[in-house]
Amino acid sequence: MMTDSRENKKVLIVDDDPMLRSMQKLFLGRHFDVDVAADGLEALEKIKYFMPDLALIDIDMPRMDGLTLMKELNIQIPGLPIIFLSGSGDLDKIQQALSGYTADYIMKPADNTDLLIRINAALTSSEKRRKDSEKAIAAATKELRDIKLEIINRLAKAAELRDPETGMHILRVGYMSGQIALASGFDAKFCDLMVFAAPMHDVGKVGIPDHILLKPEKLTFEEFEIIKNHTTIGARVLSGSHHQLIQMAETIALSHHERWDGSGYPGGLSGAYIPVEGRITAIADVFDALTSERPYKKAWPAEKAFLEIQSQSGKQFDPELVTCFLNIEDKILKLKDKFMDEFK
Ligand SMILES: [Fe+2]
Ligand SMILES: [Fe+2]
Repeated sequence: MMTDSRENKKVLIVDDDPMLRSMQKLFLGRHFDVDVAADGLEALEKIKYFMPDLALIDIDMPRMDGLTLMKELNIQIPGLPIIFLSGSGDLDKIQQALSGYTADYIMKPADNTDLLIRINAALTSSEKRRKDSEKAIAAATKELRDIKLEIINRLAKAAELRDPETGMHILRVGYMSGQIALASGFDAKFCDLMVFAAPMHDVGKVGIPDHILLKPEKLTFEEFEIIKNHTTIGARVLSGSHHQLIQMAETIALSHHERWDGSGYPGGLSGAYIPVEGRITAIADVFDALTSERPYKKAWPAEKAFLEIQSQSGKQFDPELVTCFLNIEDKILKLKDKFMDEFK
């Protein structure tokens, strides 16, 4: 008793014997969605609008024989399982031809039950191959994403570790920026890019001399002018890329110290003239810096830092983005918890 029938699977029967064709169609039609073709050329026409999950193919047919058809199908539908129905005289020919292809054969006259078992087995293993390759692609994609994130973080860390910030600050600024973008209605792709691009906001610090970057006392006017250059240096490090992610990181590096009221640097841009990526990162960066401990200050309680961000709405920060940021306080606190500072 066959229980493994798959009505939703499509089987293409290719045979020049009209009687055999219609008998198989009648029988297999009870288990699958079936279409028929009288030879290889007709089969190639059929697959333009009937995409089979398996083809049952006769060997000797006029116009285009089964083995030639197999090669064509293999190009047009890679991995399509094929079962040949063959006379005993064809065996050597088939076995030679099958090497390297996803194909099986069954001797004529085929017993219906045998045929159904073989079809189901071929469909099952083809499904498994498909799932395996999907898994392999997903794993490779994840690995690439992880490598990308790791390289970005290490690059950002190289800059951040020179000043009293930690690697976790970089991660948090990335994830918080992604959350602010999401809360502001940006699409998933933009938010994802923010997660990866925002951590690079301070890469330009690699170009700032240690005696200024690490100076514990208040900076002189001239020293602060030099610190400001980390924005343009960062943009230069990241410039000229064809990749959207690095282009976004360049924009952020250049604009994350601009202020909504125009009093920021390096461009003194104001309002919507400041790229939104920079406006978002600015909020995440300042909030995270306030709530982090530094050698010269204790970490602010989150409540106080939220109030500070709010008080800078319309001054340092984009007021609409501040509203979105304050709407997701719980998510921001969770990120703060999840990526706690490690000791350097
Ligand atoms: Fe910065
Ligand atoms: Fe930062």
